[in-house]
Amino acid sequence: MRLRKKPWIAEALTGFSDIVLPNPGETLQGKWLDLFGNRLPLQVELGTGKGRFITGMAERQAQANFVGIEAQQDVLYYAAQKVQAKELANVRLLVFDVNNILTIFAPGEIDRLYINFCDPWPKNRHAKRRLTHIGFLEKYRTVLKPGGQLWFKTDNRPLFEFSLEQFAAFGLKVEQVTYDLHRSGFDGNVMTEYETKFSLLGQPICRCEVTFTPTK
Ligand SMILES: C[S@@+](CC[C@H](N)C(=O)[O-])C[C@H]1O[C@@H](n2cnc3c(N)ncnc32)[C@H](O)[C@@H]1O
Repeated sequence: MRLRKKPWIAEALTGFSDIVLPNPGETLQGKWLDLFGNRLPLQVELGTGKGRFITGMAERQAQANFVGIEAQQDVLYYAAQKVQAKELANVRLLVFDVNNILTIFAPGEIDRLYINFCDPWPKNRHAKRRLTHIGFLEKYRTVLKPGGQLWFKTDNRPLFEFSLEQFAAFGLKVEQVTYDLHRSGFDGNVMTEYETKFSLLGQPICRCEVTFTPTK
């Protein structure tokens, strides 16, 4: 998702200082629940975009904490607006690169990760940049609790097939696989901005749930 650079956004984001965190470095590692002031499960969306999904999930699940990570502040601004408008106390947002996820979460700190419509990086030489590449799965395994999950959605069939191969190669348990989510009978789906756009174009949505079993 590329938006035209808006110079006013950096300043506008300072108005959301209770929602959008500055890069926490290592300061929050192992302490995310202290930030929320509770012991509820921690769920993290990678590549949050404009925030429709994370705000929808946080509304439905008051008994969970949500962190949205997004590389582009110009996009995250719109997510911050949604969090504020819905007065969601259980969401925090971060302008941050998922590549560095190990620096901000402690091992075993996260209960569930969400990846929705991540950039497909179609060229083979860019495969390592896909957020479901095995190099990322190594990192997710560290920050997830044993038995923690990754819920994944995409409209991109080749990316979905690639991801299923990566999950299998990594020895992960994959369940609830569907190649047409909206006709699958799955209950409780929360649509993302991209999901809405692609569905309107008639694209079926692929989805699966992946469980990270403890390593022996
Ligand atoms: C195609 S958009 C999908 C946005 C949203 N998840 C949705 O479904 O509407 C992918 C998003 O992931 C973000 N992104 C891509 N690579 C990232 C990374 N390494 N770290 C954080 N965000 C990333 C992009 O900036 C973009 O906003």
